[in-house]
Amino acid sequence: SGLITLDPGYKNTGATKSAITFLDGEKGILRYRGYSIEELAEKSTFLEVAYLLIYGNLPDTKTLEEFRTGITHHTLVHEDIKKILEGFPSNAHPMGVLSSLVTSLTAFYPESLDPNRSAGAVDMSIIRILAKLPTFAAWAYKNEVGQPVVYPDNSLDYCSNFLKMMFALPTEDYQIDPVVAKALDTLLILHADHEQNCSTSTVRIVGSSQASLYASLSAGINALWGPLHGGANQAVIEMLENIKADGGDTEKWMNKAKDKNDPFRLMGFGHRVYKNFDPRARIIKKAADDVLNKLGVVDPVLDIAKGLEEVALKDPYFVERNLYPNVDFYSGIIYRALGIPTEMFTVMFALGRLPGWIAQWKEMRENNEPIGRPRQVYVGEKERGYTNINKR
Ligand code: CMC
Repeated sequence: SGLITLDPGYKNTGATKSAITFLDGEKGILRYRGYSIEELAEKSTFLEVAYLLIYGNLPDTKTLEEFRTGITHHTLVHEDIKKILEGFPSNAHPMGVLSSLVTSLTAFYPESLDPNRSAGAVDMSIIRILAKLPTFAAWAYKNEVGQPVVYPDNSLDYCSNFLKMMFALPTEDYQIDPVVAKALDTLLILHADHEQNCSTSTVRIVGSSQASLYASLSAGINALWGPLHGGANQAVIEMLENIKADGGDTEKWMNKAKDKNDPFRLMGFGHRVYKNFDPRARIIKKAADDVLNKLGVVDPVLDIAKGLEEVALKDPYFVERNLYPNVDFYSGIIYRALGIPTEMFTVMFALGRLPGWIAQWKEMRENNEPIGRPRQVYVGEKERGYTNINKR
């Protein structure tokens, strides 16, 4: 119909009103519920930011303690979930395992399928998923490397508990490095929400059919998996490794990225909304230096990344198209310094984005938004008669 405006990729289409995250792509501003990402990264903690995103305001001491305790008490998962996990071949990508385990929660908590549940019951689902996602993530990794799973340790904070489930072995003492736990917490804060990106829009659109929170989040995890979205952090490290193996010839790879006949893109560069800089990339670049220094890690790939950034920021191709390093350009380098393997990078992104997805899902349902259903412009065949198979 002539009334339909075509906007592939929804570049200019607002799908919703939202009071959660403010983003100004021209000025490079990102705020969660009014608080700047710079201030939150410096002063807050991931669970506090999660509360802020989901419930709209910073919690007082008692509220935060209740929220934290609630999460701590639900970190264990049903033993039968372990059987589902064990059914996956060890070479399964942990993102596929993660989304499957999240979907499985619909079976363990069938009451979560009821779209007319009370706000209290929804809060319970929220606590459960915040508590269990780190357990799923660490267990997906353990399954991959063929080690026994480590049960959650409720005496630890959110990130330390995750690190222990990832890295502890039954045969050795495991010491948590506070520098690692703090760096992880900051990375999760930086990824916690980013308004209507691909995975968040997926969560909202799935939830708009009144599908359950767990079903909606699982869809979001799958959307995040793609290399143009959350999968970019894995792709960046793979790219930097390739450049290193190629003798560090950044010039050659820049030319590949600019060549329109070559599908290669400079991973970790460019953003749909940020056209001057990505404020998260600034914080992460500095954090990468700090963390590597504190841990005494020397990673030649960091120098390649910095060199690439320097060349790209001067190159007319990147300048004209407003292409700057995004959040994923340096995050992988930090994850690697923390000992997190490459195939787990996008899982780390999912752990960080979880509160944002939850907040957006909750907002959409509370606002009673209509079912998401884009239109199209049909360009196929006009009406034609059916030809019998022996006449084709
Ligand atoms: N390398 C080379 N050229 C690029 C790149 C890149 N990374 N990004 C964009 N371009 C070019 C693109 O070819 C196009 O050129 P032309 O106008 O000549 O056709 C122009 O810049 C505009 O790009 P676009 O694809 O129309 O922009 P978009 O808004 O649709 O895509 C993007 C945004 C992030 C998908 C894209 O920049 C990209 O593919 N980047 C690499 C992947 C990446 O780092 N993704 C992580 C995004 S941030 C984390 C997250 O939220 O997921």
